[in-house]
Amino acid sequence: MLLAVPTETRAGERRVAMVPDIGRRLIDAGWGITVQSGSGDAAAFTDGAYADAGVSIAQDVAALLSDAEVVLSVNPPDPDQARLMPAGVTVLSFLQPAQSADALRILAEKGATVFSFDLVPRISRAQSMDALSSQATVSGYRAGLLAAEHLAKFFPMFMTAAGTVPPAKVLVMGVGVAGLQAIATARRLGAVVRAYDVRAAAKEEAESLGATFVDLGISAEGTGGYARELTPEELARQQEALAAAVTASDVVITTASVPGRQAPVLVTERVVRAMAPGSVVIDLAADNGGNCESTKVGQEIVVEGTTVVGVANPPSSMATHASLLYSRNASNLLALIGRDGAVAPDWEDEIVIGCCVLREGHAVHGPTAEVLDLPHYPIRAEPEPVAGHAPAAERAVEEAAGPAEQTATEEGADS
Ligand code: NAI
Repeated sequence: MLLAVPTETRAGERRVAMVPDIGRRLIDAGWGITVQSGSGDAAAFTDGAYADAGVSIAQDVAALLSDAEVVLSVNPPDPDQARLMPAGVTVLSFLQPAQSADALRILAEKGATVFSFDLVPRISRAQSMDALSSQATVSGYRAGLLAAEHLAKFFPMFMTAAGTVPPAKVLVMGVGVAGLQAIATARRLGAVVRAYDVRAAAKEEAESLGATFVDLGISAEGTGGYARELTPEELARQQEALAAAVTASDVVITTASVPGRQAPVLVTERVVRAMAPGSVVIDLAADNGGNCESTKVGQEIVVEGTTVVGVANPPSSMATHASLLYSRNASNLLALIGRDGAVAPDWEDEIVIGCCVLREGHAVHGPTAEVLDLPHYPIRAEPEPVAGHAPAAERAVEEAAGPAEQTATEEGADS
């Protein structure tokens, strides 16, 4: 079982998908691992540390990828990397089909099997493989620290000989994994924290960390524990109702997101202008459009005295531990994919099924099928192989003949 870990190619990315210690454990479990030389440098894992752990080092990315059975990365492979991979390769990474269409198309042509960490089901058994959560934990922690760093005020209450200084008032919007960690971090630093979300369960979770919940009476429960997208009317009502809570805060940390959608705008430019000078907005949804209308991704801007930080790729800024946690998530998922010395995913496992977007070149995930304009063959929870497992040329003949037992459908796996 040959696992290849290329250097990340996304601009500014500092993480690496496999750290030496976890690599050593995988080698003990029967994997052969090769990393591209220098891939761990930005996360403080040197080639020497990999070599000490028994991991091989490849100087040449073409040689690394052309021999791989499984390719593991944090960000999706780019088209150049995909072209270098052999037919039938297995790929694991974070992956949004719409943003990786070119690479996915190449991988589909190669009959590749592709798993996305974005789709690991949010069930108890999958928690150890849930890289969305591990990276969101890093993001939330970083957001709390960034807020404290940008605010020209203390977070805790200070009682000094020069008088008492009140604690900072922090509002966290979006109380998922990142939001909860932002609350915990701001509380540890001594701030008074309020929190807001559209899911009812978020209230109790926020309160358990010492935040006061802001209840606007707008509920938007979606499926799988996620929020649904608000209607334009609900969103306008929400923005209006939130304005008072925002302008009463020294710091606003936003993390709101709905899977597969642009981030909702919770703080309008008008409300930013109404905030007291010196206030800070930390927008963790910047990569996905931003929760604040003023946000510019990767930039810090000042709007009438309020600093708005559009944090790009937040987990990358704490690359050592973000990489460690990602590697652990990956090694736990790899245990369901490589078994008894062979790459043989357990196609009866709901986690394997849930996060698979391509199986031997076939689109098994609705949105991926749509983006690639391929038929959708949802995986049945049974070991029987997908009918018509054939490279692209054969598949074209099959499709021309019309769908047989496995009709293209949109039901099922589009989470
Ligand atoms: P996320 O990153 O998709 O969204 C962040 C937060 O934004 C969510 O709490 C969501 O409700 C909120 N949000 C969306 N639209 C909003 C709006 N218009 N206004 C205010 N808030 C808005 O969420 P994340 O962190 O990925 O968690 C999603 C769900 O999965 C949660 O219910 C979480 O508890 C659950 N979960 C379950 C796990 C498990 O059981 N294995 C592991 C991790 C998370």
